[in-house]
Amino acid sequence: MFSSRLSFADDSNALSKARERRRTAGLPTLDLADANPATAGFGWSVLELGTLLRRDGIQRQDPDARGLTVARTAIADYYLARGTRLTPDRIFLSASTSEGYSWLFKLLCNPGDEILVPEPAYPLLEVIAALEGVTLRPYRLVQLAGEWVIDLASLTASRQTRAIVCINPSNPTGAFVSRRDRDILRNFALKNSLAVLCDEVFLDYPAEGVSSPGTWVGETQVALYVLSGLSKVAVAPQLKVGWIIVSGPTDTVQESCRRLEHIADAFLSVNTPAQLALPDLLRRAEPIRAAIRTRVSENQQILKDWVVSSGHACTVLPRPAGWMAILGLPPGVSEERLLLNALDEGVWAHPGYFYGLSSNSPSVILSLLPKSSEFSEGLSGLDRALRRT
Ligand SMILES: Cc1ncc(COP(=O)(O)O)c(C=O)c1O
Repeated sequence: MFSSRLSFADDSNALSKARERRRTAGLPTLDLADANPATAGFGWSVLELGTLLRRDGIQRQDPDARGLTVARTAIADYYLARGTRLTPDRIFLSASTSEGYSWLFKLLCNPGDEILVPEPAYPLLEVIAALEGVTLRPYRLVQLAGEWVIDLASLTASRQTRAIVCINPSNPTGAFVSRRDRDILRNFALKNSLAVLCDEVFLDYPAEGVSSPGTWVGETQVALYVLSGLSKVAVAPQLKVGWIIVSGPTDTVQESCRRLEHIADAFLSVNTPAQLALPDLLRRAEPIRAAIRTRVSENQQILKDWVVSSGHACTVLPRPAGWMAILGLPPGVSEERLLLNALDEGVWAHPGYFYGLSSNSPSVILSLLPKSSEFSEGLSGLDRALRRT
């Protein structure tokens, strides 16, 4: 009776089963994978949010497939403050970045078509692609002299390939898409008639002292769709607003917008109160983002100190941006064994393979958002787990 789009729903691995057993047994687990800012104490107060959401106009539905002009103008201002001028008619609001991806897959792909995706990366697209009947073909990002760069040998397209995704900066590596890699992607896309999808949800979280290449919005040569949203930009995932910015040659932009409007109009998924609050949310979000940047940088230092003092031969990979750390494990350690031991110690984290990191260099991915006392407590649990591995 059911569609095969959901065949992934039957998968479950030893780690998630073990976690479920703990949950059922009522045992507490300290979650070092938790990247929800609210759990870590970041976000808006009820008073602030209540005031922003209670405005004239919330009682009405003024449908505009692209999103309310007032919200799109504020997003154009957000990019202007980052050095790129664009007109609001190239902006489409959606309920989230994830929904933006699904609209772009609908725009660009027929069932059975293919999208190139970076590996390692946050495992978000497998499910969205499966739901859209699209296949993912990975291309590898590799470390060269401490930087993540595209492995050119892995960048191949077939006749079914329609688009290439890049993440600027990536989750979990935190690497920005460098100017060199933008040139590679642009040339590859032009040569193979592909569109480029650039996910910039973590753009505003560069680590201290790292110079960001900035947004890719404003590209003129290749069809480019930049995705972002309030979830990370304004630390408000609960408000459910994302956006797509269309760039590229004028005729492609016009045709993309015309077609995207049909998709957006079929759903009209963005709620009015959040759209009306969006200009103030964007204007006032920086202190919350700054507090997050401080927390992740403090936890990164705690992690580095722990690596030195623990004597486990672990490494902390450089983190140019973002909220996550990659902890390199001693060679030969099994990620799964270690994390099952960690669960026995009451600590949950994600294995590197979950993000497509190579198992030749085993690793664990840690969220740097938790309160520093909890983060340290979690590291103590990992320490005990490593001693048992
Ligand atoms: C790189 C990346 N893109 C997109 C998303 C999802 O964003 P949204 O909450 O807007 O759907 C995530 C979630 O963490 C992410 O890591």
